[in-house]
Amino acid sequence: MADHTELIQAALAARELAHAPFSKFPVGAALRTSDGATITGANVESASYGLSCCAERIAIFKALTDGHTNFTSLAIASPGGAAPCGACRQVIAEQAPTATLILIDSNHPDTATETNITTLLPNSFTADDLPTDN
Ligand code: THU
Repeated sequence: MADHTELIQAALAARELAHAPFSKFPVGAALRTSDGATITGANVESASYGLSCCAERIAIFKALTDGHTNFTSLAIASPGGAAPCGACRQVIAEQAPTATLILIDSNHPDTATETNITTLLPNSFTADDLPTDN
């Protein structure tokens, strides 16, 4: 198993910057790019609850808009080590299809588990499913 210690630490640190006053469920995410860069994100909630955005999508959108396109791993830290929500699974399937996903319980960071998006979202819809004349 690869050593994800640094990325796990980055996700835990990112979690400290979550803005989650409504759910009180802070989540941190850290993406590793193929050239070794680390991009982090945390969930940001709105008083209009539905506008809130998860840590995973914040990290992915930050990375994409900084010009990163190739991701090898994504560490996610939350209370209990939750797996990504359905919306984030879709975005991960499109943008980080081969990334190792590392789930970290922020209360027990030593017991991280690994998975991948094919397991979490099999047979996913991607840009390849769109007609080519689009
Ligand atoms: N949340 C994430 O940031 N990532 C997940 O994988 C699951 C849920 C956030 C959204 C919301 O701010 C809070 O956790 C409670 O759902």
